Amino acid sequence: MKASAIIVAAGSGRRLGCDLPKAFVPLGGHPMLYYAVRAVGAVKDITEAVITLPAEMLGEGRSVVRGTGVDIPVKLTAGGAERQDSVRIALALVSAESDVVVVHDAARPFASPRLFGESIRAAYLAGGAIAAIPVSDTLKQVDGDAIVATAPRIGLYCAQTPQAFRRELLARAHDEATRDRIAATDDAELVERLGARVAIVEGSSLNFKITTRDDLAIAQAVIAAGLTT
Ligand code: CTP
Ligand code: MG
Repeated sequence: MKASAIIVAAGSGRRLGCDLPKAFVPLGGHPMLYYAVRAVGAVKDITEAVITLPAEMLGEGRSVVRGTGVDIPVKLTAGGAERQDSVRIALALVSAESDVVVVHDAARPFASPRLFGESIRAAYLAGGAIAAIPVSDTLKQVDGDAIVATAPRIGLYCAQTPQAFRRELLARAHDEATRDRIAATDDAELVERLGARVAIVEGSSLNFKITTRDDLAIAQAVIAAGLTT
């Protein structure tokens, strides 16, 4: 079984509000992108990676990849306007020999190689598999500034990446989303709408997405505390 990794890193990081695009913001002495590339490079089943970047950062991205010492082939490409466009562009560059494609956000620097491996293997069996964690907060439905209802959280999960799929299934999901003009915030949703099975693998609360300055501060603390693998 062969897997390709897509790392989406073409966003600007508007909500983070740094001078650099988010994937290049320093974290624990490395650009954020470094961590995802390192993790992907440590997964036995992953034989290549495709990374989407802001067009003006392709050269910088190549240096980051070189700095990781990762030895699988890595293609870099400019991303698209939205995350979904970036995944579609990267998917077109994935080797036709790959059985599985695993998509990961560069904005989640603490996904472990093991989590990648588990999602890839589960996707090979089920068709698709994503990292997710059960919702732990109580959920309120709100209208304006007042609660309307308390939503039962049983069976609700927070989706993370990595998200892995059989290559042909993910390609069909993107083709049909383009045809039907569907915009989704993750790849699983596009595969779900085909009626395909997408399994859950146990993610981690450390695998959070860095969106805001507070998230970045927490990520720095995670590294300083030695909580990463
Ligand atoms: N991404 C991408 N192409 C885009 C938009 C996002 O490759 N056109 C990537 C980001 O680089 C990130 C991941 O998708 O790794 C998740 O997106 P998000 O956290 O929203 O990052 P940004 O879009 O950069 O942040 P913001 O929405 O605050 O601008
Ligand atoms: Mg975004």
